[in-house]
Amino acid sequence: MPNPHVISFFDDRTFTITHLVACPETKRAAVIDPVLDYDPAAGRTYLESAEALINQIAQDRLQVDWILETHVHADHLTAAPYLKEHLGGRTGIGANVGEVQKAFAEIFHTGPEFKTDGSQFDHLFKDGEQFVIGNLTARVMFTPGHTPACATYVTGDAAFVGDTLFAPDYGTARCDFPGGDARQMYASIQAILALPPETRIFLCHDYMPGGREVVMHTTVADQRGTNVHLKGMNDADAYAAMRTARDAKLNMPALIIPSVQVNMRAGQLPPAETNGTVYLKTPLNRL
Ligand SMILES: [Fe+2]
Repeated sequence: MPNPHVISFFDDRTFTITHLVACPETKRAAVIDPVLDYDPAAGRTYLESAEALINQIAQDRLQVDWILETHVHADHLTAAPYLKEHLGGRTGIGANVGEVQKAFAEIFHTGPEFKTDGSQFDHLFKDGEQFVIGNLTARVMFTPGHTPACATYVTGDAAFVGDTLFAPDYGTARCDFPGGDARQMYASIQAILALPPETRIFLCHDYMPGGREVVMHTTVADQRGTNVHLKGMNDADAYAAMRTARDAKLNMPALIIPSVQVNMRAGQLPPAETNGTVYLKTPLNRL
């Protein structure tokens, strides 16, 4: 089986990395974690990031079969529905997304229009499930901890790890969102680090500590030796103690309130009100 050709896009407004994963033999492709731009001051969505992705796909003459989320993101909105409309493909996420939807349905007090069974997505992946991108076979690894529905997609020498590992000098993802669990995160990270050392680890975010250049992928070998949150962490208890103390000091992501309301609906907006306008809610004193 060939290794995938990967082009990564960095959104410097949300520090999010979108990956375009292509089979070099067939030009079939998957998009992982696409961004819908959002101006919170104006309450306005826009398409600069999505159009850049669409232009690259057209230039490379790729056919998109999958639009995948590693999880329900809390820091950017997903462009999955817009990309599906313009490029085709099926949307997919880990099958435990219903747990995330139930937690946020309660927080946002959604009505019966919002189903918490994941049915807004075209496909719900099971742990260990395989799917194809042209001649590439990809495998789904559930990697919960940041959220209960986080998934890592592995194909050839590449793993798309979502919010688990960040760049080695920045550490690992927070575990204090609803359904998050630092002990599960430790186990998920160990499973990723058990992949072959040369495996390319494609990140979901980079925060460029110290003003260094953006890092969009590392390797399992790099992570094993140098990740700042894993040094001296020999068991789940030690990691969870470190992670929990750290998470207690973190602010909520700037876009968590708009992001979650849109992303839990697979990127569809809530229903418009009778004047035709879509509104997002702000729950007070809940997050
Ligand atoms: Fe996240």
